[in-house]
Amino acid sequence: MKGNNTLLLHLFYTLLLFLGVSAGNGNNDDTNRKEVYIVYMGAADSTNVSLRNDHAQVLNLVLRRNENALVRNYKHGFSGFAARLSKEEAASIAHKPGVVSVFPDPILNLHTTRSWEFLKYQTHVKIDTKPNAVSNSSSSSDIILGVLDTGIWPEAASFSDEGMGPVPSRWKGTCMKSQDFNSSNCNRKLIGARFYTDPTGNDDDEGDNTPRDSVGHGTHVASTAVGATVTNASYYGLAAGSATGGSSESRLAVYRVCSNFGCRGSAILGAFDDAISDGVDVLSLSLGASPGFQPDLTTDPIALGAFHAVERGILVVCSAGNSGPSSSTVVNDAPWILTVAASTIDRDFQSDVVLGVDKTVKGRAINFSPLSNSAEYPMIYGESAKAASTSLAEARQCHPDSLDANKVKGKIVVCDGKNDGYSTSEKIGTVKEAGGIGLVHITDQNGAIASYYGDFPATVISSKDGVTILQYINSTSNPVATILPTATVLDYKPAPVVPNFSSRGPSSLSSNILKPDIAAPGVNILAAWIGNNADDVPKGRKPSLYNIISGTSMACPHVSGLASSVKTRNPTWSASAIKSAIMTSAIQINNLKAPITTDSGRVATPYDYGAGEMTTSESLQPGLVYETNTIDYLNYLCYIGLNITTVKVISRTVPANFSCPKDSSSDLISNINYPSIAVNFTGKAAVNVSRTVTNVGEEDETAYSPVVEAPSGVKVTVTPDKLQFTKSSKKLGYQVIFSSTLTSLKEDLFGSITWSNGKYMVRSPFVLTK
Ligand SMILES: *[C@@H]1O[C@H](CO)[C@@H](O)[C@H](O)[C@H]1NC(C)=O
Ligand SMILES: *[C@@H]1O[C@H](CO)[C@@H](O)[C@H](O)[C@H]1NC(C)=O
Ligand SMILES: *[C@@H]1O[C@H](CO)[C@@H](O)[C@H](O)[C@H]1NC(C)=O
Ligand SMILES: *[C@@H]1O[C@H](CO)[C@@H](O)[C@H](O)[C@H]1NC(C)=O
Ligand SMILES: *[C@@H]1O[C@H](CO)[C@@H](O)[C@H](O)[C@H]1NC(C)=O
Ligand SMILES: *[C@@H]1O[C@H](CO)[C@@H](O)[C@H](O)[C@H]1NC(C)=O
Ligand SMILES: *[C@@H]1O[C@H](CO)[C@@H](O)[C@H](O)[C@H]1NC(C)=O
Ligand SMILES: *[C@@H]1O[C@H](CO)[C@@H](O)[C@H](O)[C@H]1NC(C)=O
Ligand SMILES: *[C@@H]1O[C@H](CO)[C@@H](O)[C@H](O)[C@H]1NC(C)=O
Ligand SMILES: *[C@@H]1O[C@H](CO)[C@@H](O)[C@H](O)[C@H]1NC(C)=O
Repeated sequence: MKGNNTLLLHLFYTLLLFLGVSAGNGNNDDTNRKEVYIVYMGAADSTNVSLRNDHAQVLNLVLRRNENALVRNYKHGFSGFAARLSKEEAASIAHKPGVVSVFPDPILNLHTTRSWEFLKYQTHVKIDTKPNAVSNSSSSSDIILGVLDTGIWPEAASFSDEGMGPVPSRWKGTCMKSQDFNSSNCNRKLIGARFYTDPTGNDDDEGDNTPRDSVGHGTHVASTAVGATVTNASYYGLAAGSATGGSSESRLAVYRVCSNFGCRGSAILGAFDDAISDGVDVLSLSLGASPGFQPDLTTDPIALGAFHAVERGILVVCSAGNSGPSSSTVVNDAPWILTVAASTIDRDFQSDVVLGVDKTVKGRAINFSPLSNSAEYPMIYGESAKAASTSLAEARQCHPDSLDANKVKGKIVVCDGKNDGYSTSEKIGTVKEAGGIGLVHITDQNGAIASYYGDFPATVISSKDGVTILQYINSTSNPVATILPTATVLDYKPAPVVPNFSSRGPSSLSSNILKPDIAAPGVNILAAWIGNNADDVPKGRKPSLYNIISGTSMACPHVSGLASSVKTRNPTWSASAIKSAIMTSAIQINNLKAPITTDSGRVATPYDYGAGEMTTSESLQPGLVYETNTIDYLNYLCYIGLNITTVKVISRTVPANFSCPKDSSSDLISNINYPSIAVNFTGKAAVNVSRTVTNVGEEDETAYSPVVEAPSGVKVTVTPDKLQFTKSSKKLGYQVIFSSTLTSLKEDLFGSITWSNGKYMVRSPFVLTK
């Protein structure tokens, strides 16, 4: 985590907010304080009439005590409400019939790196992420993507409806009105927009009671997923080209659940409830809890809302979080969610340093350096400019107040960045204050991210390349240099790479489900932005209508956009079939034809990128799919320890004859029909796992054979060793037996099983955990 102190601060801040509402601190003054609680009551349309009455009864009980208590009522997609309650009231309601859980309204975060000053960057979506086999950009599909985020800037060119057909007649959503938004802001592309008022009134900013985006995040995410093609998009000329969403033919419905301070659980559940009845096909959520503070399943608004959406056939795609590279940091990891990690694309933003000896050193940054192109500016190493009051080490790293202004004035300052936790932006502050005219920051902490420094000539050099600069400074009494303004570099290699910030597996919810599921571009992504942004505008320029930012937030809409394309091509496919198609067609090789690596150069594992990097055309035609049905998810609820009574309250589709297996255990989770396999191998010599595949290829008669990549020391046997599909047998099952002569695994082991008929490759990664 070195160098990520800003991130840590961000996490702790969130933690405080989270505890602020959730910790029932035994302080007497607080006993009567009413907080917003969510009362979750399972399926809304259970066939059991007595369960439906429970909702009315519990709600009446609350309203009898205080008619203004109700904040939000959930009744379309599922049942429950959010209300202002005292701790005692909440505790007593938790025991009423039909109540699954009662929990304080949590605040979740956007999964962008936006909040880090040093993570404001750029790149561009263009063809590398657009499914190439889909329809013409002028045509339209009736697939509807719902985005839960900070809202929308409807005037952005990405949301033009030019060439689109009428709004699908099944659409039941609405375009909510506010002082700066009305029905004329919606069109045949942006077909719905809702917002959710803050129940606490904390946020008395008028600007929040509107679908209009005042942050930028929601606009960026929506345009990445389903934005129309816009030619000539760029960030002040960088990353220039045409910007287009993954599924430019799909429709967009926006649910504003977040503001600058975060995203309320009660609003998120409200949006799921609405989106389910509005008629969306795919939902995209670039937000979530912080790892370590992730609630359990029955008190996690995203997991609960997603469960009900998936039960209605809606695919839910979520970001994995930005808390990597530590393991077990992935969030949004319920098995019915498609969980997305981030990767880089083959575009980089270079701001190089030219030394007086006519040598150029590669730097990475986004700046509009006004310095001339020739190396004519004096340069000084931080430790040579030490202020009297500080240590050499502090000056070397340009910590606040460590530099002597007399020595720094008019010079480019070279600062080291080893393990000190100060961001490049903070060091810019120090250098500027001392009168420096530029900063060369030698650090590996920013990884693949090209940070935005505006007009200030600042760039980041790897520690390896930093040696060249330090040697040059040592070699002369009068070192000079310049910092070049940023240039866009294409065909950058290697790409993709999994950046350090992307959250990692294994899943802390269940190590018997492999998470994350997939990786997609999330570093330096160019997409639409709000039109009234006055921050960070370089001198003499108009605010950019595009922005370049990073995070798993940006990866998620690449996958939800792709999912919309797969659904457009295959409208009858289930949510799990689409998820399977995206996962089994992923690749594990980079543009050097070598295995995909992480930021630190290690070969990536499924804990970094799940099934691998998403592909666009292959997922439209996967050959076979793994369908995970509601029974699988119900079994999962049993296996994690919920009893049948609770399962029946949660789900609308529990068959009368369904019961939780007597010997429910987490090991059985490995058998739910998931497109990847995770097995707890502790204390076992052999484990038997089963799967069922469905032929969705154009040929009914076809035979598939397995190819196994096994880790050493483990034997993997697949039976049968041939799957012969016919017109009458479209679904076939197989077993995998993992056995090992090792008495215990030293570490988690990875491999894969790929079924192929010569045309399609259907790959499932597996992990055996120690
Ligand atoms: C309906 O739900 C109630 C409360 O959980 C339960 O007691 C009852 O057995 C259920 N009825 C049916 C037909 O499942
Ligand atoms: C796409 O464009 C091509 C050529 O412009 C045209 O022939 C084709 O019919 C179009 N397809 C759709 C689905 O509109
Ligand atoms: C919507 O707002 C625009 C601009 O504020 C205004 O011109 C238009 O008349 C409004 N339309 C409706 C239907 O209220
Ligand atoms: C693209 O944008 C640049 C700069 O904003 C402008 O000079 C150029 O004319 C534009 N090109 C097109 C085709 O619109
Ligand atoms: C990424 O994380 C690894 C492991 O924590 C660390 O060794 C490496 O320096 C980091 N790389 C970058 C580019 O931040
Ligand atoms: C610069 O010179 C000093 C003193 O001669 C030496 O200690 C240091 O290692 C040199 N640094 C580099 C990067 O060559
Ligand atoms: C099922 O679990 C709930 C919640 O833990 C508990 O209140 C209930 O008594 C359990 N029911 C049975 C039949 O065990
Ligand atoms: C439950 O009933 C359905 C048909 O109604 C049947 O297909 C299924 O096998 C039964 N399941 C069990 C566990 O008995
Ligand atoms: C794996 O299985 C062992 C033995 O059954 C059990 O003790 C352990 O808790 C399991 N690990 C996980 C992460 O579920
Ligand atoms: C593996 O499980 C399947 C299905 O439960 C069963 O048919 C098969 O015999 C098992 N194989 C072994 C070796 O246990």
